[in-house]
Amino acid sequence: MAELIIEGCRRLDGSIKVQGAKNSALPILAATILCKDQSVLHNCPCLSDVDVSIKILRYLGCMVNRDGDTLLVDSDTVNNSEIPQNLMREMRSSIIFLGAILSRVNKAKLSFPGGCELGPRPIDLHLKALAQMGVAIEENHGVLECHAPDGLHGAKIALSFPSVGATENIMLAAVCAKGTTVITNVAREPEISDLADFLNACGGRVSGAGESTIFIDGVDTLTGAQHCIIPDRIVAATYISAVAISGGRLFLKQIIPSHLGGVISVFEDAGCSFDFKPDGVMVYAPYRLLPVKLIRTMPYPGFPTDAQAPVMAMCTKARGTTIFVENIFESRYKHVDELSRLGAKINVQGKVAIVEGVKRLSGACVEAQDLRGGAGLVVAGLGAEGTTHINGLKYIERGYEDIDVYLSSIGANIKKL
Ligand code: UD1
Repeated sequence: MAELIIEGCRRLDGSIKVQGAKNSALPILAATILCKDQSVLHNCPCLSDVDVSIKILRYLGCMVNRDGDTLLVDSDTVNNSEIPQNLMREMRSSIIFLGAILSRVNKAKLSFPGGCELGPRPIDLHLKALAQMGVAIEENHGVLECHAPDGLHGAKIALSFPSVGATENIMLAAVCAKGTTVITNVAREPEISDLADFLNACGGRVSGAGESTIFIDGVDTLTGAQHCIIPDRIVAATYISAVAISGGRLFLKQIIPSHLGGVISVFEDAGCSFDFKPDGVMVYAPYRLLPVKLIRTMPYPGFPTDAQAPVMAMCTKARGTTIFVENIFESRYKHVDELSRLGAKINVQGKVAIVEGVKRLSGACVEAQDLRGGAGLVVAGLGAEGTTHINGLKYIERGYEDIDVYLSSIGANIKKL
């Protein structure tokens, strides 16, 4: 099994072009089903989760070709409304295909999704909204059979929580539904706006993305479009954590600073400084990291739950105590025991983690158990003296393109074995 080997405590210096956002690419790939035509997606990252989406598209009858970070999807030939269990189990986002398939062929059959284990991840909000839009849903032994023989219709949908996936699924179902859909208390993440931009480029009529109410006027059909996926703000936050713990400086090319709103202030509190330029941002690490006092994960524009593990890894070497409160997922501290193996002092009580900064971390063998937790271990490994072996690389590869190559290019001693 592949592992990452890191010789830590090397100063980092260089520049990185941030990859396209996984969490944009996945729903936009699902949206291509609606186009009955060719779509071209630029800046599409090479990740195992993107590969799973491509497998699903092909299973549904689409033709998909990749040329570097450009994907061409032709969905004219869609001839299937089922996703097999093995593909559904491979990632949580496979559920995003439900709204798109239903919209395209008025029926769908798939099982409950898999993905990183972060505690219970229900899809009740997705299903309730689709039912409001005229979909009959039957569940048998974990398999969902959905029918909308008369097509989907617009509805007024009030989400009880601003779920990212539910917002996207409803947008995909509503863009070609009869009439108008109004969704309140939606997720406001930049990836939602990116999906809306793609749908509108294809002829959809979606407004309000990025705010808390989205309005969608259903259109008869969408045509394919060209679209460039936004840069990945979580990958950017991970590389900032890496340079912060290692010392040095990093120029992040091609990021959108406003997307990092909730995290930049945390890094500034930790002593990092930023120089914003037209083509990216320069990050300078402090001589010794400061504690951040309190970091609460919240829906966007709050501090993202996906950045919690990499930033926690950074805080393990701060000069004082940082408190984390994880408000989005129940079980998102699996990296804590592994960080402790490297010498971190962290005490978890329910959704609170108290991180007492230490002067030194030292290398050990650790195991990634989910995507962002794995990224946190890479950050900690870079800040640890000696050799760190990280197993469970398959989790990291779900969301980070060639993490060893990117980090080596800025001076890290990291190898994939
Ligand atoms: C997306 C992101 C993931 C990120 C998360 C929160 C993608 C591919 N993944 O995941 O990286 O960590 O947003 O920012 O974009 N919930 C329900 N019922 C539902 C749906 C969600 O109770 O029907 C709960 C979840 O259990 C969780 C919370 O809502 O506690 C947030 O989930 P959600 O925003 O839906 O996350 P995902 O779309 O799965």
